Formats: sequence, structure tokens, C-alpha cells
Amino acid sequence: MCGIVGYLGNKNTKEILLEGLKELEYRGYDSAGIAVLQDNDFESFKAVGKLINLEEKTKDFITDKFAVGIGHTRWATHGKPTELNAHPHLGNSSYVVHNGIIENYAKLKKELMDEGVVFLSQTDTEVIVHQFEKNLKSAANPFEAFGKTVKELEGAFAILLVTKEEEKTIFFAKQGSPMLVGINAENEKYFASSDTPLIGHCSDVNYFEDGDYGYVTADEIFILDKMDNQKQPHFSKLTQNKLSAQKDGYRFFMEKEIYEQTTVIADTLMGRLGVEEILFDELENGLFDGINEIKLCACGTSYHSALSATYLFERYSKIKTSVEVASEFRYREPIMSKDTLFVVISQSGETADTLETLKMAKNAGLKTLVICNVDNSSMVRLADASILTRAGIEKGVASTKAFATQVTVFWMLSLYIAKLRGSLEAGEIARQITLLREIPVCVKVADSMHEKIKRLSKRYLHGHGFFFIGRDIFYPLALEGALKLKEISYLHAEGYPSGEMKHGPIALADPELFTIALLPQHLLYEKAKSNVEELSARDSTICAISPLEFDKADDFIQISTCQDYMQEFFEMMVVIQLLALEISIRLGNDVDMPRNLAKSVTVE
Ligand code: G6P
Repeated sequence: MCGIVGYLGNKNTKEILLEGLKELEYRGYDSAGIAVLQDNDFESFKAVGKLINLEEKTKDFITDKFAVGIGHTRWATHGKPTELNAHPHLGNSSYVVHNGIIENYAKLKKELMDEGVVFLSQTDTEVIVHQFEKNLKSAANPFEAFGKTVKELEGAFAILLVTKEEEKTIFFAKQGSPMLVGINAENEKYFASSDTPLIGHCSDVNYFEDGDYGYVTADEIFILDKMDNQKQPHFSKLTQNKLSAQKDGYRFFMEKEIYEQTTVIADTLMGRLGVEEILFDELENGLFDGINEIKLCACGTSYHSALSATYLFERYSKIKTSVEVASEFRYREPIMSKDTLFVVISQSGETADTLETLKMAKNAGLKTLVICNVDNSSMVRLADASILTRAGIEKGVASTKAFATQVTVFWMLSLYIAKLRGSLEAGEIARQITLLREIPVCVKVADSMHEKIKRLSKRYLHGHGFFFIGRDIFYPLALEGALKLKEISYLHAEGYPSGEMKHGPIALADPELFTIALLPQHLLYEKAKSNVEELSARDSTICAISPLEFDKADDFIQISTCQDYMQEFFEMMVVIQLLALEISIRLGNDVDMPRNLAKSVTVE
């Protein structure tokens, strides 16, 4: 998602900031900007689109003496990718860049506006710089004002702020979003949101911890922790390998993205969970007026998340819902009625078949909604309404965190509609919101779990096929498990509804047929268990995934005891992703770029 860089020193500040931003390009962004303070004079530049546009704008700008500078690549969350919404954001005499989301920005913004502050952007970030300048008026010094501001912010953030009031200083704060500072023998200071921009410039780095805030000058790095105790920086040597830095030490991007699910789901939830209601500020009131049916359309992994949504929408929102593979829908002359909300789901927002179905629905006069990971993508531009999944850029071709955030959005949307239609009691919505808050913890990868799957994977490198089986919403998860495995291991795998195995596929059962059985405690456990027993009786090799011990299984992967089947869903999702990953690694395949596949399929 967004990226931050900062620099304090005597070298070419502009070049250093632009180079740093280039190193963060791989994270995905839709606009960028820099602000440089030298000789107590600010220069700031912003551009929409690729960094080349920003380079073009800054080509006549010279930085050849001591300066402090900050830069940012923005992945839009609050407000469209426009120049005004791009960072750095300006107050009267200060600039700020920020990653994360300020959850209480609306309240702060209202207070500031009531006091006469004029806002230029739609972002949550802009409140930081205005709040700082407000606090400046009563504070003994700029750092006191900065500290007060940081304490008034709720949510997740990594912040750099520069101000004319203290022109040789960069202020920083970190809470929830990553940030580090690097040093070298030349007394320069470099900031970034990940280590790649610092490689080649810094010998040692200090990774800030949550709650840290402070400032740097040429001679000092001053850090306070969240209790306002001063702490010394803890420096470690910086790796010099850029690719491994991008992967944060993980072997593959897919592995990194599986581990990232805990933070990206937290991002997806951020600002959207009320006590008894889901808040989608991006949806206009009235979107669901006159709607009696929902039609979902997607491809690949996004289709699986859409299929999960059909269970949630019918169960919780009590609205008739159906789902279709986009490439099929396109050509089968479907009947489309105007009381149907047409929803497309796409990580990229560019998949040709899905985009075409969206056009068809628009032409037929239906209301349309897109659930997407990329703002300003073709689908987001075309649909009447959009909800962004906030998964950040996904590099592994086999989708993981995009799927996780899509299902999270669908779960929230089912509750949002339930509230509108009065189909769930307020207390039940509140209970489910409490469950949703725990999902980032459910998807956290435990070392012991990963180790177990690594060991187990060696037993699943052959055979004549895999069946992933599950009931209800665990059926789409079974489909997704099978898809992950075939995409990166090239082994034959199918997802099947557990109860359907006896109608044909069970004929394949023998010790070389591997069954991956999803056995949640809180949804149809006994029924699903009987189906697995039928396979076990016919000697299929069974790997059961469940919180409950299951003695008919050859292998057993135990997930935590959960309060609800949706939490079990997310725990099992991580298990099937790791299983596919470890099998593929053992087979020596290129996990991130599997043969014959493309990340974004923009042809029919
Ligand atoms: C390709 C990718 C899949 C993805 C599908 C749909 O096949 O390899 O991982 O699920 O496209 O992509 P979308 O961007 O529309 O979600």
C-alpha cells in the first residue's frame, strides 16, 4: 500500500527521495509527492500516476545543500487518487506524510473546520498537520505540539512531519504501520516504511516500535515510548540484498502475503466497525432501495469469495443471491431485472471477463457495485459504487490476502444489508462485529502451525489426486484450497461439497487419493464428519483440518477452538494456503510465478 521516505542531510535530497520512492513502487500506488525544506523555504510537488510524472515536475528543482525532505507514494483509501489527495499535506508552515488510517479523523476534522481551518483534500491524513499547527499555538515548542497531536490520533499510522518552526528536524511517530530510521558515517538520517530504500545508503537501522515518537536532527535521534519514557535506538545491520528486503526475509511473496493477512484484514476493518452496525462511508444511502436480489460475478479466486458471499447474504441479509463465473455469464444471454444489484469482485479490477459482465449489467440499467483491491481500476471507474478491500499490492500469482480481504468485506456487507433490511437483531449484529474484530488474530500464523504443515507436506507430493471437501461456506473454501494447490504444485486437485462425494467421486477412493477435509466445529460438524468417514472406510488418505480431534484421519491439523464458524473459516483458510505453499516449495516450483498463469488476465 502506501510508502514513506524521509531524508535529512547535505546530499541531493530530491534525488534521494525520488530514488527511495522508486524502491517502494512494488507496493503499488496511484499518486506520489515530496516536500523539501531548505534555507527555511518549502518546495512541494505532487503527481498522479507513476513516479515518472513526479520526476518530470521536479526536473528543475535543485537541492544542493542541507535540507530535510519527506516523500510518499499513496494507495488511495480515503478519497480518490488526485493531486490534492496525494501526500505530503500542507498546513500553514508544515508538511506531513502518513501511512495507515486515522480512525477518528472525521471528529477531528469537524472540530478544526468549526474553528475555521480550511481543508484541501478528502484524506484522513490532512487532519494531522492542522491538528499539529493548532497545538503549536499553545505548546512550549514544536515537539511538545507534535507529541500532543500524536496522542490525539486513533488508528494506525506511521508519520513524518517537517515544519518551518524547527527547520532542521524531522518529527516521526509510529503506531501499527511500519517505520524505520537508518544512519551512516556521514551523519545523514534516512526514514522509510520498509528497508529497501535504505539499502546502499545506510549501514545500520532502527525499527521503531508501536507507540514510539520523537525527532531526528543531524546530531540526534530522540525517541519516546508510548509512556513518554526516553529510549535509546536499537540499531541492527542492514541487509544489502534488495529482493530479499522486499520479501522481508520470507522465501516467496506468497508466503509474505499469507503472513500479512493479519495486518491487511485489520486495514480492511478499520473505520468500518461500529458497535451495532457496519459503516461503509463509500456507499450512498439508497443503493439498496428497490433491490430484491443480488447477482455476483467474478473469476478465479474472486469467484470463490463471491460464492462464500452467497451463504452470508442469504443467511444474514435474507436476500436472494446467486453467483456466476464471468466467462459463462457473458455469453449465456442472461435475464437481468432492475431489482437486482449486480456485484463484481476482482482483485485487480481489470479482468476482461468480469469487466464485460459489469458493462452488460450497466447497459441493462442495473445498479452496480464492485468489490476491488485497486482504486481507479477500470471496474472501480465504471461501477456505480465501490468498496475497496485494502489488501495492498499482491505479487504472488496465487491470490491469498486478496481473497481474505474480499471475504472480510462480504461478511461486513452481509451485516450492513442485514441492518438495512432488519433481518438480524441489533444484538446479533453486535455479536458478529465482535467476531469480526478478532479475525486479524485468527489469521496470524503460529510458528508451530507452520512447522507442522512444513513437516506434513512431504507426505503429499504424489498420489493421483486431491479432494478438498467441505459443507456450506466451507465448500467455497474447499474450492479455493484445491485451486491454490493446483496453481502452484501442478498436482490435480478438486474442491467438492462433502455430501456430494458419494454421487460419483468416491469411486476414486484409495490410499493414493488424498482427501483434505474441512471439519468446523460450529457448522454441520456431524454431517461433514460422516462424509469423511465414508471416504476413510474406502481407504482414501485423509488429512483433517478441525478444532476437534478426529481419529479416522491419517493426518490431523488442529486449528484453535473458536466461537463461531466464520472464525474457523479464516483459520482453515490459512492452513490450506500454507499447505499449498509448502507442497509447492518441496516440489521445487516457482511459487510466485507458476507456469502458464498470469496475475491479471486482461484478455478473454
Ligand atoms: C487470474 C489470477 C487469479 C485471479 C483471477 C481473477 O486468473 O491468476 O489469481 O483470482 O485472475 O482476478 P481478479 O483480479 O479479477 O480477482
